[in-house]
Amino acid sequence: MNPLKRLGRRRASLVSLLAVSGLVIPGAATAAPDAPDAVRASTLGAQAAQSGRYFGAAVAAGKLGDGTYTSILDREFTSVTPENEMKWDTTERTRGSFTFGPADQIVNRATARGQRVRGHTLVWHSQLPTWVSSLTDANTLRGVMNNHITTVANHYKGRIHSWDVVNEAFADGGSGQHRSSVFQNLLGDGFIEQAFRTARLADPAAKLCYNDYNIENWSDAKTQGVYRMVRDFTSRGVPIDCVGLQAHFGAGGPPSSFQTTLANFAALGVDVQITELDIAQASATAYTNTVRACMNVARCTGITVWGIRDSDSWRSGENPLLFDRNGAKKSAYQATLTALGGTAAARAAAAAAPTSSPPSLSAAALPTGFSWSSSGALIAPKPDATHHIAGIKDPSVVYYNGKYHVFASTASTAGYNLVYLSFSDWSQAGSATHHYLDRTAIGAGYRAAPEVFYNTSQRLWYLVYQTGNASYSTNADIGNPNGWSAPRNFYSSMPDIIKQNIGNGYWVDMWVICDSADCYLFSSDDNGHLYRSRTTVGQFPNGFTDTVIVARDSNKYALWEASNVYKVQGSDQYLLLVEAIGSDGRRYFRSWTTSSLAGSWTPLAASEGNPFARASNVSFPSGAWTRDISHGEMIRAGYDQTLTIPSCRLQYLYQGMNPGASGDYNSLPWRLGLLTQTNSTC
Ligand code: XIL
Repeated sequence: MNPLKRLGRRRASLVSLLAVSGLVIPGAATAAPDAPDAVRASTLGAQAAQSGRYFGAAVAAGKLGDGTYTSILDREFTSVTPENEMKWDTTERTRGSFTFGPADQIVNRATARGQRVRGHTLVWHSQLPTWVSSLTDANTLRGVMNNHITTVANHYKGRIHSWDVVNEAFADGGSGQHRSSVFQNLLGDGFIEQAFRTARLADPAAKLCYNDYNIENWSDAKTQGVYRMVRDFTSRGVPIDCVGLQAHFGAGGPPSSFQTTLANFAALGVDVQITELDIAQASATAYTNTVRACMNVARCTGITVWGIRDSDSWRSGENPLLFDRNGAKKSAYQATLTALGGTAAARAAAAAAPTSSPPSLSAAALPTGFSWSSSGALIAPKPDATHHIAGIKDPSVVYYNGKYHVFASTASTAGYNLVYLSFSDWSQAGSATHHYLDRTAIGAGYRAAPEVFYNTSQRLWYLVYQTGNASYSTNADIGNPNGWSAPRNFYSSMPDIIKQNIGNGYWVDMWVICDSADCYLFSSDDNGHLYRSRTTVGQFPNGFTDTVIVARDSNKYALWEASNVYKVQGSDQYLLLVEAIGSDGRRYFRSWTTSSLAGSWTPLAASEGNPFARASNVSFPSGAWTRDISHGEMIRAGYDQTLTIPSCRLQYLYQGMNPGASGDYNSLPWRLGLLTQTNSTC
């Protein structure tokens, strides 16, 4: 979004200056929406992401050389748990000597692919070296335990989504008490609290979980014992964020009270996660019942199956997993995908896919040419007595908790500000309420071109936007428009390299994306330059520095503005889109890819003849209401700071307008429409 257009004195628009006359197509700006279905997915991870959940697997470092194993892992799963590699007998087999190699292999591989990691586990009576279990002095053990937690959690700091801080501390049977262990016997009941407090200090960003088995049936004494502990912890402010229910089930699957148990733990104010799911004989019904219970509890944030193929399972004799020993999908797989919310079309596509030889990483990469089908205008301005809005522009969108959340610029002769709306599917987009954010702490005045994402380590939503500087607000609840903080700036002033190159342009369209180590802020200058600054994930939102020019074009219209950068799910690709103004004066998008956010970009579909998205490769079944395919955003596979998008069936929410419109740029009738990729091969 170009701020110069907000200046009232600028009467003529770039579009009208550059437009070729005679292209006017009778406008259908309010054409009935051709609303596509909600995003469909054909993998477990992508399907779970549509409700904001992860779908994970336990992974063994020793199997990472097995191509069948890794291709299923990367295709289907958005989270991994090292099966044994983080346990005490691997990480500190001898006192004070730490071994991280095998776990590092899993963590590095996962983070490079945008998969999150569950840390398993810091304190457990099993797989514990005898030098620990044979200690007899409480002070020595306390020091040993705290040192172990601190050293391991510190090594993985910032890279672990959730830690199983304490595993299996409760006894089976009717006591509801802690089990006997060296920790319990020497340190007493307080060892669990001590472990959680130490873990919080070591990695404040990780969710801290208590993890156990046989706590799925609500009335069991063991479940009740864990419940009392979590209630006690939350009431006294002992740091605990989640309960992991292992869910190692017999052939009958979960107990009928399973959902009640999940809901009751969640009602204490913690997340619940299904952490080690496997079911003897893997009946489709048993998997369906398990997944449904999680889907029905808002704070059930993800599911991990304990292995990939039956042959990988610690219970391999019971064939308890979703893939057979050849890597083919079992009926339990289809049942799980369906229960995660897969549509009929996704299920048909999944069933048609070859099951014994899953697609490789490169098959998940993007094509080199694109074609699209566009909806009609789905979202139009809703002016009120004090907001005489002419255009709605520059949308940012995430799908979270069963809703699309859209943030956009509002344009009027008075200038630019922001609006928020949410809806459950695209057919509802037009009737959603518009919340004007100038009424919130974000405030009145120039705010435009928002980008929204969730920062998982800080557990905060960020709204990034331009104000002349690069600004942001934060909010704990994306659904609460009044929750946004007042604007803050990423930079104290415009970086020198931008000052030196901006010419007569304007500094616009700030975009943040993070990998596992760093966050990058991209921006444009309407003078043919794309810039990038960097900070660490830990320092974000502070510390943006090292600003460089990542792309330049002597024809400034070819590298204009509205850049988007995404991670492509299931591949090592990142995708860059930059809006250009074509020879016909109309907006369109060019695209590039790279394997590193800090790297240089290679053209993908980057010309007017082979554009990423331009009126020339978009069909309009409900009427060609726009010739501009302008500033917007991809529908993501998730909603966090990695900005991960699916690798197929892409959808892009964009701004377009009646091609016949002209006049004051701020008064142009921009509307939002949705492109759906039509040449997807998966
Ligand atoms: C199991 C692993 O899958 C096996 O490879 C290993 O031999 C024993 O441990 N509860 C847990 C997991 O918390 O760590 C266990 O994993 C299964 C039961």
